[in-house]
Amino acid sequence: MIVTHENPILREQAKVVINFGSDELKQLVDLMFKIMLEKDGVGIAAPQIGVSLRIFVYGFEYSPRYPDEPAVPIMAAINPEILWRSPETTNYEEGCLSVPFKRGAISRSSSVKFSYHDIEGNKYEKTVQGFEARIVQHEVDHLNGFLISDRAKELRDSRIA
Ligand code: CO
Repeated sequence: MIVTHENPILREQAKVVINFGSDELKQLVDLMFKIMLEKDGVGIAAPQIGVSLRIFVYGFEYSPRYPDEPAVPIMAAINPEILWRSPETTNYEEGCLSVPFKRGAISRSSSVKFSYHDIEGNKYEKTVQGFEARIVQHEVDHLNGFLISDRAKELRDSRIA
């Protein structure tokens, strides 16, 4: 079940994950991957399934929602933090499973560096570009209570959710 934009949980500052390696955390991340696949999402943040924690998952082989985008490897990021955003930006029309059947052009950094933890609590840093960088910025927005309606000048109706 995906929470949609009128739900106040999407406006909260999601909470930091403290307990790593637990069965609950593994089950939550598995559930997020499952829902993302079911909904053909390219990324999903925990608040979108009603859990106010700083976790997102992303990645896809082929997305019918973004058919022109090449595959992005699947991964989960816990307590992610953006460490650097490129001054170069790209403008691109994006959607959100929590704002169904809307799309809006949003200017975001073309590249970002971020840190995150895996399920066991190991910390990593990753620099990503292009559509992957856009997904990371979109999902971090979810953890801080922002939606595409806050970032786009306007949203248009879309046949694709
Ligand atoms: Co979204």
